[in-house]
Formats: sequence, structure tokens, C-alpha cells
Amino acid sequence: MIKIGVIGGGKFGTNHLITLNQLERQGRVKLVALADLSPAILEAQNKKFGVKGYRDHQEMLRQEELDAVTIATPDFAHLQVTLDSIRAGKNVLVEKPLDITAEGCREIIQAAQEHKIFLEVDFHKRYDPYHQETKRLVQEGALGEIQYGYVHMEDKIIVPRDWFPGWAPRSSPAWFLGVHFYDLIRWILKKEPKTVFATGIKRVLAGLGIDTYDSIQTKIEFETGTTVTFDTSWILPDNFEAVVNQGFRLVGDKGIAEVDSQDRGMRTCLNQVGMQTHNLGFLQEKKDKWGNTTFAGYGIESIADFVDNLEFINKGGDAQQLSGTITALGADGLAATKMAAAVHESLENGKIIKI
Ligand SMILES: NC(=O)c1ccc[n+]([C@@H]2O[C@H](COP(=O)([O-])OP(=O)(O)OC[C@H]3O[C@@H](n4cnc5c(N)ncnc54)[C@H](O)[C@@H]3O)[C@@H](O)[C@H]2O)c1
Repeated sequence: MIKIGVIGGGKFGTNHLITLNQLERQGRVKLVALADLSPAILEAQNKKFGVKGYRDHQEMLRQEELDAVTIATPDFAHLQVTLDSIRAGKNVLVEKPLDITAEGCREIIQAAQEHKIFLEVDFHKRYDPYHQETKRLVQEGALGEIQYGYVHMEDKIIVPRDWFPGWAPRSSPAWFLGVHFYDLIRWILKKEPKTVFATGIKRVLAGLGIDTYDSIQTKIEFETGTTVTFDTSWILPDNFEAVVNQGFRLVGDKGIAEVDSQDRGMRTCLNQVGMQTHNLGFLQEKKDKWGNTTFAGYGIESIADFVDNLEFINKGGDAQQLSGTITALGADGLAATKMAAAVHESLENGKIIKI
């Protein structure tokens, strides 16, 4: 059985814990421990998942016999814990973005190669069935050669203002939101990005003392002339109907595909809460026929994919064969980071950046 630890047990680390806890009940992994700087987080997650806590990830890596770790620390804090985990001989799943510099990504990839570590990056948008269907149609040629496209991903202001005001200034709509879709569009098109141009505005969050961009608009040119614009922001009103508004469209020589990744067709309006849409595709909490709580959705599948891959490798499978599949490897993490870094370079100097 694969023995796993988690580093970073905040908002998204909770998703890692839910997934691994479920896989543990299925007898596929042992969720051994959680490392987090915050004693309050360790206590809360211990209550919920019965998981042993460490305040120092290095101590967890030393004390516990782990085969693998999953990492959900803030974006800027991926590099050190990922390198430490690799150097301790653990296979690693890292939340997007792999790191916030291309050099950091390359250092991680090189360390994984040297230590013969399996390295995966969690880009969960790849696991959304509507996104997979779009990729299938594009790759079959049903839309013809893609000429242009448009993406939007926008969070409610609660995300940078209430969820993590402490590290929002070290992130941006490009790093927190854009990378999801920079990766997704590159994966759907199977084309490499060539140039990036971006503009952005700092106003609302800066006014609240959170020094980061409110919104960033980006145009990326891919191979063979396909251009896609990406609108990203995290200042949607508190009473917007979902935490995240998202979707995209691609227009080709022979067809068009449009995906509303936010409004999946279910809405409620409750006293005190107001209008809400529900994206059950991401995470659906269910009861099985015995009354046990289970979870399904692409937010779970993308993390479970790491365990599938470790099982594949344990049975003698070659990790190289996973390249080009739904699994995002180190090279995919590097590609998305290069796009986001180019977005920020363009924001700073107002120029078109060659990748
Ligand atoms: N929140 C989301 O909707 C979401 C979605 C997809 C991906 N992600 C990614 O997940 C990662 C975590 O984001 P989040 O929203 O959970 O942030 P968060 O602030 O809620 O949680 C981060 C946790 O990491 C802990 N931490 C920080 N440095 C650490 C260290 N050196 N060792 C151990 N623990 C450390 C913090 O104490 C905190 O509990 C980010 O990379 C983010 O981009 C988040």
C-alpha cells in the first residue's frame, strides 16, 4: 500500500486530504501525516481526518516512512518543500503552479530526474469531462484548425480578501487563476505558446491594502497562428452566484466549441444566501447505500490520478509513457509557469514577450 503525507492543509490541502482519506477507505493508500505551519490547521484536520500532524515538513519527511507526498502550500512556497521532498526520496504531486519561476521549475525537474522521483503537477481542469470532450473534438479535427479562442476565469473577491490576504500580494490572477487555463488550452490544442502580451489593473484590492492585480487580460499566440485571450480577475462581487466564474470558447476553420464551466445547470436561492449555482462536476458529496459519505468529481479525480500513476509505476510501468496523457508532468508545469511569468514580464514592460 502506498504511504502518503500531505504538506499544506489549508483550503486546497483539504481536498487532498478528502481524496486520500477516501482512497484509504478503499484500501489503496495509507494517509500517514500532514505537515502545516499552523497548529490550528493541524488540530482541525486531525479532528476531521484523524491524521497525525507536523509543524515542520522536514521532520515529517525524517520521521515517517513515506512513499509519496502531495503539496498544497501557497504558490511561492512550493519550491523548497518540493525540493526537500524529492531529496528525501518521495514521489511528489504539486499543486499548480509548479513554481513561480521557470528556474525553480527546472531545478525541481532536474532534482526529480537525479533522484528518480515521479513528479506530477495538479492541473485539475484537465479532468473536467466537458474539457476532455473539447480536447477530443479538437484533436479529432472536428473543429478544423483552431483560429482563435477566448477564456475567462474570475473569482469572487472573498478569495484574495478573506481566504488568503497574507499571500495574495505574492500571487496574482495570472498565477492563481490563469495557469489553470494556460495549461488547459495548451493541452487541448497540443500547441506550444510563442508570444504573450498582457495588461492589468491594480485598484480595488490595492485600496484594501492588498498589493496585487485586480485583473489581467492576456493574449497568447500559439504555434501556427492560433491566438487565445485570457481574462482573469479576482474581484467579483460578494453576492455573485458562484465562487468562480469560468468558461472558454474555441473557433476553428470548421466549427466552434463553447463551454460554460461555471453554470452547469443547477441553481438555488436560499434565505440569507441568495442565488447560487452548483458545480457538482468539481466536487460532489454523496452518501452510498450504507450511509457512508463519498466524494466524486474532477477535483478528486486529478489527485487520485497521482495514486493511479504510482500504482502503474509500482507494477513496473514506465513513467515516460504518461507523457502526453491527461497527467501533467514536470515539463507541463514548466510550460504553464513560463506563460504566467511572461504575462508578468509583459505587464511590467508593456511589450510582447517571446516564450
Ligand atoms: N483554493 C483554491 O481554490 C485552489 C484551487 C486549486 C489550486 N490551489 C492551489 O493550492 C495551493 C494552496 O492554496 P490554498 O488555497 O489551499 O492556500 P491556503 O492558504 O488556504 O493553504 C496553504 C496552507 O499551507 C500552509 N503552509 C505554508 N507554508 C508552509 C510550509 N512551508 N510547510 C507546511 N505548510 C505550509 C499554510 O499554513 C496553509 O495552511 C496553492 O498552490 C494554490 O494555487 C488552490
